[in-house]
Amino acid sequence: GQPIFPMNSDGTNHSWMITKYDHVKELLKSPSFIKDQSKLFSSASKDTEKDDFNIFQNMMLDVDPPDHTRLRKLVQPYFNPKTIKQLEPRICEIADDLLNQMKQKETKVDLIDDYAFPLPIIVISEMLGVPAEDRDKFRQWSNTIVSASNEMDPDFMVDVEAFTTYLTELFEQRKAEPQDDLVSHLIQTEEDGEQLTRNELYSMIVLLIIAGHETTVNLIGNTMFALFKHPDQFEKVKDDCTLIPGAIEEGLRYYSPVDFSTARWADEDIDFHGQLIRRGDFIVASISSANRDEEKFERASQFDITRERNAHVAFGFGIHFCLGAPLARLEGKIALEKLLTTFPDIDLNLDVNPPEWRSVFLLRGLDSLP
Ligand code: HEM
Repeated sequence: GQPIFPMNSDGTNHSWMITKYDHVKELLKSPSFIKDQSKLFSSASKDTEKDDFNIFQNMMLDVDPPDHTRLRKLVQPYFNPKTIKQLEPRICEIADDLLNQMKQKETKVDLIDDYAFPLPIIVISEMLGVPAEDRDKFRQWSNTIVSASNEMDPDFMVDVEAFTTYLTELFEQRKAEPQDDLVSHLIQTEEDGEQLTRNELYSMIVLLIIAGHETTVNLIGNTMFALFKHPDQFEKVKDDCTLIPGAIEEGLRYYSPVDFSTARWADEDIDFHGQLIRRGDFIVASISSANRDEEKFERASQFDITRERNAHVAFGFGIHFCLGAPLARLEGKIALEKLLTTFPDIDLNLDVNPPEWRSVFLLRGLDSLP
């Protein structure tokens, strides 16, 4: 296909999608702010009024340095591989609890609803300090937000308002009685006044809740689905659980849980590999396509858990490289290890319901996996 293709145009500005691995890395590397290199593409949205209160505004994903650097620094220590590694015993416990509940269920179990979805939610809820019992509310809000095609959609507005009110109440509670959690820490930072504004506080928590809800579920579900569909690979993992991290990396590449990057805007007219991208144009990277680029990956459309040098871009690249990557990798590894030891004969039950991909822009995951 066309590696840089126009999606639509409002007459003045165009939107573009890029699909090749090298182009995707180049786009995501910018703004690199490497000495002497100019800023070409920006993550900062051009069409929102900065003064309005909006829980989606000022997310670190949507801003450039120096704001991006400041926001990322506030939460980075909580997501470093070393800090995340300490969560291992607790993640194992959560996985065991969910598997026990699945064993006791009299009806058929669903790998998404009963396992892949709750596991990362409980983990991120505990890190943030939001009650895991409220996860159905978060699921609904999160789903409305990622499915909405239009911010004026009444359902979207109702759910955003409910989400905002919920967070306001939670912030009040934590302010009165601080706990040893990320929400309390960020409220304190906001109160100190220099590092985090009120709007940024909301946006940060919303981003972490949504990222924690909508991504790792897909990693677990998609990797298991790929294994079910490739019995030779599945047998290898069952025989040797040290191959699980390789299966997770291949799951990330083969069925990338996040299909596209967020938007980048051209800060000047740019000749991007022969295509003129005009100042103000909007451009997104197809991560899924880059991860199947034949010029980068040998036998790109084969699912191979023993693939060497699997340099996929499933977690993005550059300054916005996924903050949660160490957490997602650890959750994925534990989830598969525990699942395969508890249910060594697990198989897909295609008679109940054929698995269906969710129709959500940006994300790739299954609705259910019976
Ligand atoms: C950024 C993918 C899990 C938090 C990103 C980006 C990708 C991505 C592709 C970069 C987007 C861009 O440049 O436009 C994934 C995948 C995950 C996952 C595939 C699971 C398999 C998580 C989790 C969290 C998280 C569990 C946290 C709870 C973030 C944050 C950013 C981000 C905060 C923005 C980083 C920045 O702007 O500096 N993720 N993510 N992600 N992710 Fe993840």
